[in-house]
Amino acid sequence: MIIEIEMAIRSKAVSMIQSAENEPAVETLSVAATLKHHLNSLFSLCCRLEHIADSLPNNVDRQECLFVARSIHPLVRRAHDFEEEVLFPVLRESAFDSDSLRETLDRLQCEHWEDESFAEEIQQELYRFVREPKAVNPESLGYMLRGFFEGLRRHLAFEREHVMPLLTNVGSR
Ligand SMILES: [Fe+2]
Repeated sequence: MIIEIEMAIRSKAVSMIQSAENEPAVETLSVAATLKHHLNSLFSLCCRLEHIADSLPNNVDRQECLFVARSIHPLVRRAHDFEEEVLFPVLRESAFDSDSLRETLDRLQCEHWEDESFAEEIQQELYRFVREPKAVNPESLGYMLRGFFEGLRRHLAFEREHVMPLLTNVGSR
């Protein structure tokens, strides 16, 4: 089953490369635009998490907290699915493919796994805070939120500064 999924993803990436050879600007722009959309969504999520962390313990808007709790894991998961199933295969099949690029993409994928696990923990903790604020240690929650969004911001900044330029140049090679 896993092999079938990997083959399907690989086939999708190859067809995107083939399409990119015919119409490089359109295909590459579409992947770049989708990446930009996900990066912006996650940067915005980081700002919302920082605002919650800064408002702990007494000034947190619980409606906002509930909204963030509901959206954090799906947002992170959607961005990672796009990068791992579309973006990374496109880069691996591009003229930029190298040992160094493969190592970088492997590292980014490992960070995705850590962030998804962390996002689930934060989701549960935010739900707990909304239900019963006094049952949650605000310092621990603040520490957890900052650990997550600071790490995620570094990951996003790397992708914006080092991965996005590769993508925008794929069609020009
Ligand atoms: Fe990523």
